[in-house]
Amino acid sequence: MNPQKDAPANHHAPLATEMPNVGSTAPNFILDESSDAGETLHDLRGKPVIMVFSATDWNPAHAEQMAHLYNALVATTPDGDKLTGIRRKENEYALGFDAEEVTIPVLHDLDRNGSAAERFGVLGRKAVFVLDAEGVVRWSHVSSEGESPRVADIVAALQPAPVATAASNTAANGWQTNRRDFIVAALAGAIALAVLPGAPAEAQNPPAKPAVPSGATLPVQLNVNGKTHKLNLDSRVTLLDALRENIGLTGSKKGCDHGQCGACTVHIDGESRLSCLSLAAQQEGTKIVTIEGLAKGDDLHPVQQAFLDYDGYQCGYCTPGQIMSAVTLIREGHVKSDREIREGMSGNLCRCAAYPHILAAVKAARDSGKRV
Ligand code: FES
Ligand code: FES
Repeated sequence: MNPQKDAPANHHAPLATEMPNVGSTAPNFILDESSDAGETLHDLRGKPVIMVFSATDWNPAHAEQMAHLYNALVATTPDGDKLTGIRRKENEYALGFDAEEVTIPVLHDLDRNGSAAERFGVLGRKAVFVLDAEGVVRWSHVSSEGESPRVADIVAALQPAPVATAASNTAANGWQTNRRDFIVAALAGAIALAVLPGAPAEAQNPPAKPAVPSGATLPVQLNVNGKTHKLNLDSRVTLLDALRENIGLTGSKKGCDHGQCGACTVHIDGESRLSCLSLAAQQEGTKIVTIEGLAKGDDLHPVQQAFLDYDGYQCGYCTPGQIMSAVTLIREGHVKSDREIREGMSGNLCRCAAYPHILAAVKAARDSGKRV
């Protein structure tokens, strides 16, 4: 008999106020106190479990963020399989790898002010716990309001621990990584980075960051304008900041830094994207083109030339973004009428109101007969 498994899950029992240490058994609790089923955390044994206190709402964009972050994390370890896709199926995440799919139960909406949070010693805080199939805590992350997860801690937690000896304490020394445990821990790290409030990777909101954050970094390779740049970046750094501050390409402009003005538009794999809303660490394996990559030596790109010829700017601050958007718009053929052009360029604002000239420049580039 397993006394922990069979103990009644009485949420009125004395509550733990200390966080369980890595290596200790996680306290039990009823998963849904409003349900008659009375299912407890211990009932999930047999599979690793991820617990998230106070996650943000599930947003499909998180799947992409988590997959990118997961792949960035496993890139630091020798045996990591590449995650090709991630789906949320009710209380599970289904992780797609080349040869298989792995499902991991995720308790993603635990109340940070509820009894489970009290039992786990994280009352009022945002936290992620990873339990192994035996219900033992293998990894945890707790953040205070506004504090982001430390990537260095996550990466360190993913390193295989030394095999325990008779004299050592396995619980204190970490865990010997097997493939399943590794997947779960890496996923937990990705969740901590992508889902926890205060973490950076919210597609709909600009990441919270200083221009060049200090502290924990990840190795990131960016292909920009055909050249590979090997960087060590904080996972919170946006592509815009990496381009401007780390690579030194300042042509992409920071207008609003909130995805509203289009001044930071670049091409990622041939599509116009707002670099202020894209995390640099997510762009490994993509081809990025900035305004600096359009011209061929001294020969301006036809759209650049048209903006010059038709005075498609005054102060010029919005112009790199305008040109990058115009190029993809013409390539995609959405420039058949003035209305279509205005609509297609509506995400690029111009404080100088040079819109009539911008329209004329786009039409001239369209009609130039030159390949854009
Ligand atoms: S700086 Fe990116 S949209 Fe304004
Ligand atoms: S030319 Fe000045 S903001 Fe557009």
